[in-house]
Amino acid sequence: MTATAQTSFNPGKGVGQPVGVAVLGMGTVGTEVIRLMQEYSDEFAARIGGPLELKGVSVSDLEKPRPGVDRELLTDDAMSLVQRDDVDIVVEVIGGIDFPRRVVLAALKAGKSVVTANKALVAAHADELAAAADEAGVDLYFEAAVAAAIPVVGMLRRSLAGDQIQRISGIVNGTTNFILDAMESTGATYEDALAEATRLGYAEADPTADVEGHDAASKAAILASLGFHTRVTFGDVYCEGITKITAADIEAARKAGYTIKLLAICEKIEVDGETKVNARVHPTLIPSEHPLASVKESYNAIYVDAEAAGSLMFYGNGAGGAPTASAVLGDLVGAARNKVHGGRAPGENTYANLPIADFGEAITRYHIDMTVVDRAGVLAELAQKFADAGISLRTLRQEEGERHNYARLVVVTHSAREADLQKMVEELEALDDVQRIDSVIRLDS
Ligand code: HSE
Repeated sequence: MTATAQTSFNPGKGVGQPVGVAVLGMGTVGTEVIRLMQEYSDEFAARIGGPLELKGVSVSDLEKPRPGVDRELLTDDAMSLVQRDDVDIVVEVIGGIDFPRRVVLAALKAGKSVVTANKALVAAHADELAAAADEAGVDLYFEAAVAAAIPVVGMLRRSLAGDQIQRISGIVNGTTNFILDAMESTGATYEDALAEATRLGYAEADPTADVEGHDAASKAAILASLGFHTRVTFGDVYCEGITKITAADIEAARKAGYTIKLLAICEKIEVDGETKVNARVHPTLIPSEHPLASVKESYNAIYVDAEAAGSLMFYGNGAGGAPTASAVLGDLVGAARNKVHGGRAPGENTYANLPIADFGEAITRYHIDMTVVDRAGVLAELAQKFADAGISLRTLRQEEGERHNYARLVVVTHSAREADLQKMVEELEALDDVQRIDSVIRLDS
């Protein structure tokens, strides 16, 4: 790349000024970020207006071979690296919360812009990190923290900054989508599908954060915060994973024309005349013809409903080294441009400061599958229970039970307060005529 070509890309100040980069962590994502940074160094220099210079890479194990990186750049002292004078931007791809929090805060306080892929960190400590970035006048970017290559953070921060967002919903965890899809398409059990996800490298050795919904809940907290200009943290998100979903649930859903997906749902709701924010993650039945039902394997998709824009859907690769590196590098280019040319990235703005709704205040719908005693009057008794609670039924289907004298009853409700639906299930469980509740799964359509 010649100086002339750079000048024509970026006329004006700062052309040619190098930007020092420190990368924290050399796992799958860090390795890919460094590889692409080096392979496309001329492209990046032209797009930024100055070259990116890798100043150091922090790793936990200095002995491990790190092909593609000069050994002299490696250090196990991340804290010192981020405070060095020749480092302008810190890329954090370590994972975890406590150590990254300390090192990212140190970097911001030292005047370095930070690009992080760490959803757990951002979902837990965004206020503290944003305040540190503001105080130092530097950037905090985290596009890769939500759905990897799908540019949903930038879309909320910039593209939809002029709109009023009502709802953000979608599939934001690739591992669980892979498992649910495998269960549906091959009839596999949850355990077998998880083993396959692990074998293919989608699930971590410890898949708890994925299958219990914690990863998706962190992403929901970030999306809700950005969309509703209100601080929503991980602890504010109701979270239920997929570990209790059985092959029988999947099969029953398929027969009834539904698909089960782990959805993150963030919405503004009216509670007694007050607008509140609700964010939740749980297995959800969606009609098989719904666009989210066609999201297969480890793909992610996010729906945004905005007042002026209408409904938008974003689809793509939400996990993996290269897609996550794409998002990190996009942020790195943005932060580097600001270093070279001046200016700052759009920051956090939680001016709306809406109250967080209790999960019980959310409006949901239930699909209840239960085994009841097969005798005259049971159906009427149960229907009356729902009527007494003010919960309207959409469908009620009785099928022959697996055992003599028992019937299977599948109830789909209309929308109702989550707290009322939960109470209803407790009351059903206490009835003598209800032998057991086989499954309760929420619906979205
Ligand atoms: N483990 C996540 C997933 C990717 O399966 O989607 C990183 O958030």
